[in-house]
Amino acid sequence: MSSMNKLSATIRTFHSSAARFKKNVEFTAVRYPYLKRGNYSFLSDRHLGFFQSILSPHQVLTDEINDLSGYNVDWMHSVRGSSRLVLRPKTTEEVGAILQYCNAQNIAVCPQGGNTGLVGGSVPVFDEVIMSLGLMDAVISVDELSGIAIVQAGCVLEKLETILHLNNLTLPLDLGAKGSCQIGGNVATNAGGIRLLRYGNLHGSVLGLTAVLANGQIMDCLSTNKKDNTGYDLKQLFIGSEGTLGVVTQVALHCPSKPTSVQVGFFGINSFDNVLETLRLSKQNLGEILSSCELIDQSSLECVTSQLKLKSPDLVNHFPFYILLETSGSNADHDAEKLNSLLEMLLKNGTIVDGTIAVDSTQATNLWTLRERIAEALASEGYVYKYDVSVPIRQFYQLVDVMRARLEKLPIRCCGYGHLGDGNLHLNITSQEYSSELLNKIEPFVYDWVSRQRGSVSAEHGLGLKKRDYIEYTKSPTSVHWMRRMKKLFDPNNILNPYKIFPGTLNE
Ligand code: FAD
Ligand code: MLT
Ligand code: ZN
Repeated sequence: MSSMNKLSATIRTFHSSAARFKKNVEFTAVRYPYLKRGNYSFLSDRHLGFFQSILSPHQVLTDEINDLSGYNVDWMHSVRGSSRLVLRPKTTEEVGAILQYCNAQNIAVCPQGGNTGLVGGSVPVFDEVIMSLGLMDAVISVDELSGIAIVQAGCVLEKLETILHLNNLTLPLDLGAKGSCQIGGNVATNAGGIRLLRYGNLHGSVLGLTAVLANGQIMDCLSTNKKDNTGYDLKQLFIGSEGTLGVVTQVALHCPSKPTSVQVGFFGINSFDNVLETLRLSKQNLGEILSSCELIDQSSLECVTSQLKLKSPDLVNHFPFYILLETSGSNADHDAEKLNSLLEMLLKNGTIVDGTIAVDSTQATNLWTLRERIAEALASEGYVYKYDVSVPIRQFYQLVDVMRARLEKLPIRCCGYGHLGDGNLHLNITSQEYSSELLNKIEPFVYDWVSRQRGSVSAEHGLGLKKRDYIEYTKSPTSVHWMRRMKKLFDPNNILNPYKIFPGTLNE
């Protein structure tokens, strides 16, 4: 057992898909032949001429091989569109002009942030024009006193974090993709991540935003008030709407103070009952300083260490479960004492068998790397069937066992990890390559199981294309009906990210 020490907040860098080996990705339209292209205009020279007249040359990309391929394929290398045009606006007004024209010309548009989405929502299904927000990356203002940052939507999360740290603030959300994902994409997916346990989700942290509607109208909801009860809170509609209701161009975010003491522990645990007991005692004993409680099962740890050649901590044994615990506070001695006492208690009563606590920020980063690079490690194994579900905490791991039993002879692996403290399991199954037969064995069974537990078929990644057919496994038909009506109201021509979120064909 190593002793603990003061840690500064760690920088955990995202390793982009470019570092992973290239896969030949089948076109979405071929893999899912039941998807039918909507009755949209095909891109013409006249359309292109218009875009070139309002944007600079570097804002209009048309080279299919050199420019477009990265925008057409998702991070998982699991879906592939055939867009022939990427537009890169720099201002809210440019976004407005583009959408006004697309709406009038019946051109479908796929908004794209950092393209780290995991449900096939960020790339076109057919030939939708891609609107990439990457050039809108300015941090407009940061105010340490109020904790409010105003940012353009295309700002990469890690860049924002660096600037916040200079102002003694930090982000209320953190995720493994932070080196590439953008705040606008996070808002559009209502991203959760590893700090949700402490700071809640973006419905609480986003104070305001600017969104451009499908007809080009600019909706200014960029309030910085923490309290504002004047009528309906329309900004909430855009949080988690996955680019289907409007394009988010600016965000006002409420940011907490940067913790001056961060500690990370990693525990080996023999049974799932003891995992739950560790969570209960951690919440009870760490209270307000608990900032993360993540689960990693043995198979996930084995994958991340073997695929990425990473070293796991020297514990006495291999365990079926590991918990990564983080505390964030403002008094290192006080926090250390709390975590030490917890550790002592857990070891003494046999809830955990062994564990380690990082002594410096390098060790803390190494422990976090084991957790945050699991997605990347799994992707490098082949095709990943990725499930991101909310389940009642006592049933958190059951689904992994159920699926292992159901799949009998496993393709490669079936593993579970995730945001234990939030009841958010990441169930992942990998196979050498995509197999519709295997997919049919997993779905809809997995969603049916989640639905029977009254869980959610998407805890944080959203529905995108891949999960759209299962929305009613979580939401009632009446809710879906009103969602569709809202979509129709905001985007009557269905030009914004069509084929996403809702099942069935367009304009149903
Ligand atoms: P994209 O992937 O580009 O887009 C996602 C969706 O948002 C698409 O539907 C797109 O059309 C829409 N969109 C993007 N920008 C805008 C905009 N400005 N206006 C309107 N719509 C827009 N998610 C979590 O919730 N928690 C995690 O812990 C987590 N970890 C991850 C770890 C890794 C390694 C990876 C690859 C992904 C992870 N994700 C996680 C998934 C992903 O949802 C987030 O990475 C992120 O929120 C997506 O942001 P992005 O900028 O990449 O958006
Ligand atoms: C995570 O928590 O690591 C992300 O949500 C990505 C994943 O589900 O693999
Ligand atoms: Zn996650």
